[in-house]
Formats: sequence, C-alpha cells, structure tokens
Amino acid sequence: MHLPDFKVAKTTTKSDYKKVNYQLDKKYQNYFANKKCYLKTYGCQMNEHDSENIKGILEELGFTFTDNYEKADLILLNTCSIRENAHNKAFGMLGRIKHLKSSKPNLIVGICGCMAQEEVVVNTIMEKYRFINFVIGTHNFYDLPNVLIKSVKEHKLQVEVYSREQDLFEHVPVDRASKIKAYVNIIYGCDKFCTYCIVPYTRGRQRSRAKEDILDEVRKLKEEGYKEVTLLGQNVNAYGKDLYKDYSLAELLEDVAKTGIDRIRFMTSHPWDFTDKMIEVIAKYDNIMPSIHLPVQSGSNRVLKLMGRRYTKEQYLTLYHKMKETIPNCTISTDIIVGFPTETEEDFKETLDLVKACKYDNAFSFIYSKRVGTPAAKLKDDITKEEKENRLYTLNDELNRYFLLNNQKLVGKKVKVLVEGLSPKKRGEYYGYTDTNKLINFTSEEDVVGKIVSVVVTEAKTWSLDGKISE
Ligand code: 5AD
Ligand code: SF4
Repeated sequence: MHLPDFKVAKTTTKSDYKKVNYQLDKKYQNYFANKKCYLKTYGCQMNEHDSENIKGILEELGFTFTDNYEKADLILLNTCSIRENAHNKAFGMLGRIKHLKSSKPNLIVGICGCMAQEEVVVNTIMEKYRFINFVIGTHNFYDLPNVLIKSVKEHKLQVEVYSREQDLFEHVPVDRASKIKAYVNIIYGCDKFCTYCIVPYTRGRQRSRAKEDILDEVRKLKEEGYKEVTLLGQNVNAYGKDLYKDYSLAELLEDVAKTGIDRIRFMTSHPWDFTDKMIEVIAKYDNIMPSIHLPVQSGSNRVLKLMGRRYTKEQYLTLYHKMKETIPNCTISTDIIVGFPTETEEDFKETLDLVKACKYDNAFSFIYSKRVGTPAAKLKDDITKEEKENRLYTLNDELNRYFLLNNQKLVGKKVKVLVEGLSPKKRGEYYGYTDTNKLINFTSEEDVVGKIVSVVVTEAKTWSLDGKISE
C-alpha cells in the first residue's frame, strides 16, 4: 500500500529516475483471456494517450474491450483532476458502478489517472467506496498488471500511488485510437506551479524523454503510415531542460521535421519558455503545422501575477505578434480562466481587451475551480457563481465572434486537409483538419480517408468549415 501525499508531490528537487524497458512477466500473458474491459478516459490528451498505453498493457493480459460498462469484467476509470466537474463525473460513474457491483460481485473496479494522485480522493475512496478493487497512480501505471492481479488474488483494496516520479518506461505496448494521427510523449510533468493548477502535484516534476526514443517512435509511426504526430507534454516548451545542455524543443522539432513525417503538432506550450529559435524552426519547416496553442489564462497583469504565470499581458502580446509575423498563416488558440479569486470587473475587461487584440482562432474557456492543496485554494473566492457564469458567457460571446470572423476569411480559399474519416454528422461527407487545425466537412467523389487533400472552403461556421474537394 502506497498512499498519495501532496507534501511530497510538492518537492521541487530534481527527480532521480532511470529509464526502463517495459516487459510483462510471461506468466501473466493472457492471464485474463476472454475477459472484457470497459476503459473510460476523462481529461486531456496526456490522459487519452495514457489510455492508449493502458489498452496495450491490458491486451497483453488477454483483455478485449467493450463500450458497455454493464458487460465488463473490469471497469477502469482513467481520471482527471483539473476542475471540480471532472471529479464529479468520475464520482457519478462510481455511483453507477457501485450499483452494478452489488449484482456482479466478481466485477473488478480500478481507478487510475490524476484523481488517484489526490489525497482527498483516495481518502474518500477508502472511506466510502470500499467496493473498488485498486487505485494506481500516474507515476506507476506501468505496474498495472501486478496491482490488478494482486487485487484479484487478495480480494482487498490495493492502493499503489507514489507521490514522486518513478522510473521512465519505454517500449510500453500501445493500442492507438487512430491509424492516421498519433500522440508522442516528449516530456512528463510540470515545474511551473501556476497557483490554480493541480497538475504539478498529480504529474510530478518535468522529465524529458530521450530524443533518440522520440525520434525512433516518430520514424516507426511514419513507416506504419501515420501522417501526423502531436508531441505531447504539460509544457512541451520546457523539453530538454532536465536532460540536455543545448537541445531544446527547437532542436527536437527540427529533428522531427527532418524525419519527413507529413504533419507535426505540439501541445501544450507555456509562453514563458517559448524562444525565438522555436518560432524560427516552426516557420522554416512546412511539415510543422502553423497552429500554436498558447494559453494566456487572463488579460490582467494583477491576476496573471496572482496566478504565478511569470509573464505580463505586454510580454504575451509581444510573443503573439512575433509568432504571427514570423510564421505564415499561423493560427493561435488559447485557454482562459474567468472568476479567479479577487478578479474584478476591471480585470475581466482586460481579458476581453486581450481577446479583441488576439482575435483567437480557437479557445477553451473555464470558470475557476478551487483545487485542494494548490496555493490559490487559500485565496478568498469572493465572486458569486452567477457573476462567474455571466463572465464566461460574455467571454464566449466575444471569442465566438472572432472564430466566425476568422473562418469567414477562408471562404473561397483552398486549404490543405488531412482527412480523418466520414463525417459522423452528414452522410457522404468527409471530415478532417486543416494545417491551421480547423475542422472541415467536405464533399468528395473519391475515398480520401488518410490522405492530405486540397479543399475549397464554401461556408464558414463558428467551430467548423464546409467545403468541397478541389480538382
Ligand atoms: N480552474 C479552472 N481552469 C483550470 N485550468 C487549469 N486549472 C484550472 C482550475 N483550477 C485550465 C487552464 C489550463 C487548462 C488545461 O485548464 O486554462 O490551461
Ligand atoms: Fe486532467 Fe491535468 Fe491530469 Fe490532464 S494532466 S488528466 S488535464 S488533471
């Protein structure tokens, strides 16, 4: 039994870890033959990709997968802690599972992901959700086979959560959701400690993957026919800092571009670590997509300071303009939080002014959610729920206006699209993403799935484009 401890998770000393190749103990291969798993993923792309690895691990154990949790022998929730509603969703699901377990006592229930790293969550599970079989943290999910099997053999709750980083595993089995585009981890964890954010506590200190391992993975994906890779990390711009003297995201992007894979994306970037060299490399290579996710969080310097973001509105705008001027046709998206403790009407207005200045192509907007254990949780949350909702509504109105205006500028133009499949909404139409990361539905006589094609934009909507394939 290892329980999570935020005091340990908070320690900023560089982690001491080694690289290990994943290998399943042979005696466990197909241990769960003919058993079905329902794997539910909450949260960000890091979690989605972890789930692709978890699927790979469970397949070696013999599991197949079902979309119906009532038919499963194992239910595994890969959870997210970023906001209260992510918590509520997972606990809501646990309520339904509890009900199911009363009629299916052999059902195995496991919790992994970010919520597993939280003391409050694990304490609640140990008090009120004893029907759960195991809890496994983000730092040791490679140990899933052992924890799972132990929980079955011993018939009692196993909690295996480490608050500091464990070894970094390579060659973990993977069952990817797509045959066209793939996630590639480049850095784990985050050292930024923005005051509202739980991620540094749930994902640990920054650890970069060795460049050779990343490049090998990208080359292999290219050979397998993948067209696009997204380099993943909580803060990809910090890549290399913990491993190399003079090899950063700029050099990595350049080396990945030289593999010749058709499309490269990366996320998420922190404005603080974004160097001129990175911008130059993005501009130089056609296969690095001109689309950058650059979370701003707030347009008020006072709030940015309270958030611990380490930049001012002016510095952000300078970076923004540098990107727009250097990278042809570059689109920029962002994340914004409203209702941070003490945010005044004036602070909020500054956020709206920043949105007007940046005219984002896409954005994710959130109401501040207090996370136990973070520094911001100690600030007095003095804004009413109604006021927070009003601000979110006003902000979204403004954001949406620019999404549509930007999209309208594309009508009549040709865009390059990586086609992902048949549109789930309109029969006979295909969908894909432009190099600037815009969703487009379009008509084509030919089957073009998995190809990069030219499409003429015929109509602009707020969140997508319509088009027809160009001859
Ligand atoms: N409350 C609301 N939004 C948050 N985010 C991170 N932490 C919180 C929080 N406590 C948002 C930030 C981040 C995105 C992934 O989630 O905008 O960029
Ligand atoms: Fe959620 Fe953050 Fe964990 Fe991703 S890293 S799953 S966003 S808490």
